[in-house]
Amino acid sequence: MSTAELVKQHLIDPGICIRCNTCEETCPVKAITHDSRNYVVKAEVCNDCRACVPPCPTGAIDNWFPIAPGKPYTLEEQYAWDELPAAAPVATAVGEPDDVARLTSAATAGQGGPVAAPWSAEKPAVNLYNERGPITATVSGNFRLTGEGASADIRHIVLDFGGVHFPLLEGQNIGIVPPGTDAQGRPHHVRLYSVASPRDGERPGYHNCALTVKRVTEDHEKKPVKGVCSNYLCDLKKGDKVQVIGPFGANFLMPNHPGSSLMMICTGTGSAPMRAMTERRRRRIDLKEGGSLMLFFGARAPDELPYFGPLMKLPKEFIDINFAFSRVPGQPKQYVQDRIRERHDDVWRRLNDADCYIYLCGLKGMEKGVDEAFRDVCRRHGGDWDKLLPQLREKSRYHVETY
Ligand code: FAD
Ligand code: A2P
Repeated sequence: MSTAELVKQHLIDPGICIRCNTCEETCPVKAITHDSRNYVVKAEVCNDCRACVPPCPTGAIDNWFPIAPGKPYTLEEQYAWDELPAAAPVATAVGEPDDVARLTSAATAGQGGPVAAPWSAEKPAVNLYNERGPITATVSGNFRLTGEGASADIRHIVLDFGGVHFPLLEGQNIGIVPPGTDAQGRPHHVRLYSVASPRDGERPGYHNCALTVKRVTEDHEKKPVKGVCSNYLCDLKKGDKVQVIGPFGANFLMPNHPGSSLMMICTGTGSAPMRAMTERRRRRIDLKEGGSLMLFFGARAPDELPYFGPLMKLPKEFIDINFAFSRVPGQPKQYVQDRIRERHDDVWRRLNDADCYIYLCGLKGMEKGVDEAFRDVCRRHGGDWDKLLPQLREKSRYHVETY
């Protein structure tokens, strides 16, 4: 492609690259070269074929940075780097479909864009399957999570990849391509769903994953609507086939190091990644790796809250759960931010614990309220949220995904 048209540039992360030469050998158009220090990509030669991505053993190849139109980094600049430039966006998104890039960027926009994954996070696989070549999954279960009388129909849907390798980490998303076409006769666009199961699958050892899907029956203005993809998913029967793309997401990932703690804040289906992370930790409980889990979970009422039953069964010493119910008759309306304020001592301690990582997922509307609650907690303890937040982001400790 002509560099004048370039708005994203393919780059190799010299901080991760092990200089194994695989990318240079693989590249069919000879866009990759190296000197004694670094492997680099010739912007004017790279044709975005992505043949180099799967063979790279470290994922260092997997970076696709927005640049000022027509102003790619030169080879000289790339040769001089010890790491990728700090100003560059952290999302690694080679080959990410534009639809997905748009959705993920909107989901992380609230707190100033994506934050790099924790240093100890597992390296994720991304963009293995796209709309030109999706993977077909088979539904192996579809269970209602919310009570029969609840206003929301939220479902736990298990997809089986039939023995095909589809690696997923807690916090990643998959794309679902609903069948059929829209009112203009164009194929439906992809929708993203957080993975609700841990990396070894909903059923360990099987190539499967779980989703937590809310049937959309009214739009954001509360007008009746039949959401295309959520209704398609919620109506699936065991044995049905689904077209899946992804995995997506390289930032909203959990730390792996012993002693690391999680503070998770969610509403509704924002619980999906929190379930995945909690279940990962639960399966490793016997390893006694240390660290703590704290959860703030908002829903209208207990029977509207996905995974209420299983959460209630978790030992108190394993996870500190704080529910916030907003529509329980006879009880004051509570939001997650109210519970955060109530627990200010413990929250303040965790905000200052370098090993505690914070995750916020669910309703876009809660971002502002949670931000204000953290500001109040800081003020109460003589801190300054406006100073702390950039530090948390810098240390990859504050992750937001709202939709
Ligand atoms: P559409 O046909 O796309 O929309 C129909 C109408 O409903 C439109 O007017 C639209 O604006 C409105 N609308 C869309 N979503 C909602 C909503 N949630 N509430 C009210 N009105 C809405 N959804 C989940 O259920 N579980 C998840 O784990 C999950 N993870 C996501 C992760 C990311 C990163 C992102 C960006 C989104 C995630 N979503 C999740 C939302 C999901 O991608 C779809 O947007 C949602 O299922 C609605 O799609 P639809 O096709 O049913 O509705
Ligand atoms: P509410 O009863 O005011 O709608 P939903 O069921 O719509 O997915 O919402 C999940 C929970 O999030 C509900 O308890 C809802 O309360 C709550 N909620 C709505 N707006 C906000 C907000 N701005 N901040 C925090 N929680 C919110």
